[in-house]
Amino acid sequence: MAKLTVTNRAGQEQSIEADNGLTVMEIIRDNGFDELLALCGGCCSCATCHVYVDDSFADKLPTITEDENDLLDSSEHRTPQSRLSCQIAFSDALDGLKVTIAPED
Ligand code: FES
Repeated sequence: MAKLTVTNRAGQEQSIEADNGLTVMEIIRDNGFDELLALCGGCCSCATCHVYVDDSFADKLPTITEDENDLLDSSEHRTPQSRLSCQIAFSDALDGLKVTIAPED
């Protein structure tokens, strides 16, 4: 199993052992981080699964799609590290990935 480290909005960090095949959003949600609303359930239409991804993993992430890019543009808190966590399929290749839940819009 690969490890994902999540920092919540209070700045608390938690490491999670995660299965391949889930998205980063599903892993965060299933581990009790209720501040990640993920209202659309992963359909790339709400942007409430916004996270900041550690720079060292930028080149390992799937390419950002036009839909994801447009949605992130609607956030006041977008940064170069912004991604929608429902658009990142987790796998062993992302072992050690660190994400921070973005502020609520
Ligand atoms: S859960 Fe809605 S865009 Fe990711």
